[in-house]
Amino acid sequence: TLRWGVPRPRAGAAKRVIVAQAGAGSYKVAILGAAGGIGEPLSLLIKMSPLVSALHLYDTANVNGVAADLSHCNTQVEVAGFTGKDELVGSLDGADVVVIPAGAPRKPGMTPDDLFSVNAGIVKELVEAVADHAPGALIHIITYPVNSTVPIAAEVLKRKGAYDPRKLLGVTTLDVVRANAFIAAAKGLPLADVDVPVVGGHAGTTILPLLSKARPKAAFTDEEVEELTARVQNAGTEVVEAMAGAESATLSMAYAEARFLEASLRGLDGDADVYECAYVQSQVVPELPFFASRVKLGREGVEEAVGSELRGLSDYEARALEALKPQLKASIDKGIAYVQQQQ
Ligand code: NAI
Repeated sequence: TLRWGVPRPRAGAAKRVIVAQAGAGSYKVAILGAAGGIGEPLSLLIKMSPLVSALHLYDTANVNGVAADLSHCNTQVEVAGFTGKDELVGSLDGADVVVIPAGAPRKPGMTPDDLFSVNAGIVKELVEAVADHAPGALIHIITYPVNSTVPIAAEVLKRKGAYDPRKLLGVTTLDVVRANAFIAAAKGLPLADVDVPVVGGHAGTTILPLLSKARPKAAFTDEEVEELTARVQNAGTEVVEAMAGAESATLSMAYAEARFLEASLRGLDGDADVYECAYVQSQVVPELPFFASRVKLGREGVEEAVGSELRGLSDYEARALEALKPQLKASIDKGIAYVQQQQ
């Protein structure tokens, strides 16, 4: 089995079933936007998953080469390519999980509004198709800006009478993966042991790693807290700059989604103790209808958004949480308004 650095269960938690024997190899996954920078490496990682039986790759660009190439890897996952809008419906057939990284990444000179209008339309169109042809599938939204694209997806599903908040998840795993990596390095901790919850949203200062809740417990100076928090929040820019602006994070994002997908599939399979952070409809912060926190994943998707980690925050975290609320609320409202303005 593959391990994605998923944290070990807490002391006293129900014993984890070793990766899903019963459901091994029985889940169907569709990736919409599979020919892209994230889609391609993500497809390779999913082709290696022991939990998956079929992988459907859809893109408006030609994705048949990726599908043909992957189909030569001798793992049990059957791969099929679906190129062009006429093939979207076929790609959704029987999907248990639909992963959406379709869209444009942020390019130099592009304003957040430019990105919003391109990606909002793409997410709307794709989620409409999921509502019609794969109702009941879990939907993982990767497309930026996640703070708005998840509320867009929710509104689209509501209009279709197909909204189940347990099944709509914004993927924030990359923030957790980064926080774990940076904090393990800063404190000299074994990577496999480090688990940092990241709450809030999935852009800039709405990303809030809770260092006071990190396991194992570690002491941080005020300067370290500020530096590490800023590094997690700006990690995307670190990659864009190192790539000299040509691309944004794709490999680490593919890895993060592979980890999140495995957690979701283990939840669907009835594994008792699956927790990950994700951006979901939530009552954890009453004034924010969508919020990233640790969630419990089960047979129907999100079983519970865990709010307990927001109690007993450090002063720094409590201030940062207050400060992010208006920004996150504005992004949520923008997503909802986008759909409400459409015919
Ligand atoms: P990319 O441009 O390399 O790939 C996007 C793919 O989507 C392309 O193959 C394109 O043909 C396809 N596409 C465009 N419109 C489509 C449609 N209507 N239907 C199906 N496919 C369509 O971009 P990349 O780097 O793969 O990033 C994808 C998205 O993920 C971006 O919005 C990016 O900002 C976001 N992202 C999210 C992260 C997260 O943590 N959630 C991290 C990194 C990027």
